[in-house]
Amino acid sequence: MLAVNGIDAALVRSLTEIVGEPHVFTAPDQRRTYEVDWTGRFVGSTRAVVRPGSLDEVVAVVVLCRSAGIAIVAQGGNTGLVGGGVPLAGELVVSLRRLDRIGPVDAVARQVTAGAGVTVAALQQVAAAAGLRYAIDFGARDSATVGGTIATNAGGVNVLRYGGTREQLLGVEAVLGTGDVVSRLGGLVKDNTGYDLASLLCGSEGTLGLVTAARLRLVTMHEQRLTALIGFSSISDAVDAVGVWRSSLDCLDAAELMLDAGMRLVCAAFGLPPPLQRHWPAYVLIEVAAHDDPTALVTAAVGGVATVREVAVAIDSVRRAQLWRYREEHTLAVGTVGVPHKFDVTVPISELAVFVRDVPGRVARVVPDATTWQFGHVGDGNIHVNVTGTPPWANGRGGYIDDGGLDEQIYRYVSELGGSISAEHGIGTAKAGWLHLNRSAAEIAAMRAVKRALDPDGIMNPNALLPPVT
Ligand code: MLT
Ligand code: ZN
Repeated sequence: MLAVNGIDAALVRSLTEIVGEPHVFTAPDQRRTYEVDWTGRFVGSTRAVVRPGSLDEVVAVVVLCRSAGIAIVAQGGNTGLVGGGVPLAGELVVSLRRLDRIGPVDAVARQVTAGAGVTVAALQQVAAAAGLRYAIDFGARDSATVGGTIATNAGGVNVLRYGGTREQLLGVEAVLGTGDVVSRLGGLVKDNTGYDLASLLCGSEGTLGLVTAARLRLVTMHEQRLTALIGFSSISDAVDAVGVWRSSLDCLDAAELMLDAGMRLVCAAFGLPPPLQRHWPAYVLIEVAAHDDPTALVTAAVGGVATVREVAVAIDSVRRAQLWRYREEHTLAVGTVGVPHKFDVTVPISELAVFVRDVPGRVARVVPDATTWQFGHVGDGNIHVNVTGTPPWANGRGGYIDDGGLDEQIYRYVSELGGSISAEHGIGTAKAGWLHLNRSAAEIAAMRAVKRALDPDGIMNPNALLPPVT
């Protein structure tokens, strides 16, 4: 939003007429938390944050912005990690947090309708109260919203069993960049009537429209859960073991990789005792969920892998949560060291151990003083590479960050290995310039054509996902 003050005043008046004064934030202290991502790496500014409370208000905001040529960045819980949800080029922030209604659970169809502003944790609680489960889960569950998870096609820890957000989506209600509303919340499981707009909007990172509500699939709530944290002498032993358990344990819900340095950091940052008697170069946390007690099954599966060095097992929820802390606190622990430069990538399982081994050396080639932390969802090949100790690189055009060649090191390596530069966090502004490594010129042209059709004036998150036309 590049308008001068007088025009801003008119805009604020119009926004206030739509949503009411309490829901337009213009004061710096009101705007601040919306202008920076939670890692502190992406810092922007906006003249206003608008918080619509209904579909009609979202439509009116989009129509107003379209007629005034004002760019929009949608925001939910602001837990994004790729600079896709903060106003890096002065966009108007449209916070969808007030769209927080959850409809009744249809326990027979196993579905629920949730507003974009519903948190993942709130949705999980409603599902659990109905004896069901929402399959998307990750550490930021208390803040991340349904709308944000759809925008990024978020994954998390249960993807290997249930798929990512797109797989949970039966339909959406959304306001396109044209101001038109598309709505398909009927929950038909089989519905082959043309283009699947819900799938298209999922992962579109707010570049085509604003998702206001979604019809979501719920899954079985298994009564029996077992979590095990297992130590290995090497990364490749850990990765190979997960390959074995993926086929021997049908009830495997999660398989997460951690390394010694990250484990020590988590213990130090949160005052936790080491989880096992000894420290190990690599750890895998597995969780299984079944109707019957899975202990015998897991004991046989874990015992059948000769490279397993040490195991801690938990069945009760308190102890299981304690084991999960070692994994989930990695993100916050890394944040205590410095502002992380995050890489969320997938590589083929066959290349994963080599990738994890080689990445610190590749980082050191361009930023010798940096520290590399790796952890992630080894069950689906998704590794989170976090780099701290980098110089304070400045934001560039449209939020792009000059990073001293670090992106190039990592993304070209991922690409050489046949991987993806974005597994579950999205492209945002951080990776738009690297999209060509994963998408052909024809694919990017098709994406641009879709964007032009649904967002003809280019107001929807214009600096995210697609690279600038040069
Ligand atoms: C995780 O798996 O912990 C999240 O994707 C967040 C992160 O990468 O830090
Ligand atoms: Zn993750």
